[in-house]
Amino acid sequence: MKGLVLCYLISFVYCWWEVGHMMTAQIAKNYLKDNRPDVLAWADSLVQDFNSLTDGKSNTFAEAAVWLDDIKETGTEFLFSWHYTDRPINPDGLLIKIDDESRNINSIYAINQAVAVLTNSKTSRNRHTVFKAQMLRVLLHVIGDIHQPLHDTSFYNSSYPDGDAGGNFLNIQLQNGTMMNFHSFWDSGALTFAPNNSFMARPLSQSDSEYLDKWSKDLMKKFPISKYSNYDMTNPSVWTYLGFRQAQQFLYPMVATSNNYSSDYEKQAIAFCEENLIVGGYRLGNKLIEIYDQILQNEAKLTVSE
Ligand SMILES: *[C@@H]1O[C@H](CO)[C@@H](O)[C@H](O)[C@H]1NC(C)=O
Ligand SMILES: *[C@@H]1O[C@H](CO)[C@@H](O)[C@H](O)[C@H]1NC(C)=O
Ligand SMILES: *[C@@H]1O[C@H](CO)[C@@H](O)[C@H](O)[C@H]1NC(C)=O
Ligand SMILES: *[C@@H]1O[C@H](CO)[C@@H](O)[C@H](O)[C@H]1NC(C)=O
Repeated sequence: MKGLVLCYLISFVYCWWEVGHMMTAQIAKNYLKDNRPDVLAWADSLVQDFNSLTDGKSNTFAEAAVWLDDIKETGTEFLFSWHYTDRPINPDGLLIKIDDESRNINSIYAINQAVAVLTNSKTSRNRHTVFKAQMLRVLLHVIGDIHQPLHDTSFYNSSYPDGDAGGNFLNIQLQNGTMMNFHSFWDSGALTFAPNNSFMARPLSQSDSEYLDKWSKDLMKKFPISKYSNYDMTNPSVWTYLGFRQAQQFLYPMVATSNNYSSDYEKQAIAFCEENLIVGGYRLGNKLIEIYDQILQNEAKLTVSE
């Protein structure tokens, strides 16, 4: 368990999803802007509530999606397992041990807790509370994590009797010969989001914000919501299961026979990440709509009973 926590920490040094997370949130934002501006206004105001309590790098809707990573080294280890749901890939059927915490306290739990806090009927009178502001940021982040399939699984075989911590113990060889942590490779969107000195450093500059906005709109044109009419948009158990299946069917088969990275795999991986970002963004948008509609219902009941 210690090894797992340590490796997750190391992998976050690469912080994919810093860009990936911002993209997911930006897609949700643009989706809501077009479809439910009332939901966006509510969610955005909850983001703002928290700004004076952060390091100033997560003040916008998109940037706030990174906050749950920002607080990792501030004594909040108890939240680590909220970032993933490690359904085992165990092709050899080994006898494996998964402790209760890993089984039960996971990204599905995190999302369900966020929903519980945000829609709590006892606090219907106050749209804004400290926990609502906090759990909104949890939601923005964890729905992104779920769409990185290595946050949905851990791989077991006799080399990894305790699992590979979502690919953190595996290395693949890039085309230039460098070895890279498999989890980090996917965190970096198959290197699309590889960090460099200036790319999307937070707080985002005006031009980076515009880049993010344009990038998300381009992807939304390429992958319109109509393409996903038969996708589940609100159930995190379904989403994590699909991420697990993606890891099992696509991410791991490549490394099962060779750790050699091919340009073909990279192309497929990039396309794969793009689509996962889009679907994650639409799901985040729809989850926020579901939550907000519940809040409106709770408030309506309050008015009737008064
Ligand atoms: C190889 O490529 C990776 C990813 O682009 C980069 O981080 C690394 O510095 C490169 N290594 C060399 C030796 O060029
Ligand atoms: C950083 O990466 C982005 C995206 O790949 C690229 O557009 C930008 O030019 C890079 N910046 C530097 C300084 O390498
Ligand atoms: C376990 O799986 C990894 C990744 O697929 C592979 O590199 C390794 O050779 C496997 N170990 C055994 C003993 O099969
Ligand atoms: C990896 O693949 C490249 C070409 O795709 C090849 O040149 C290289 O020798 C391979 N490396 C290993 C260790 O198999």
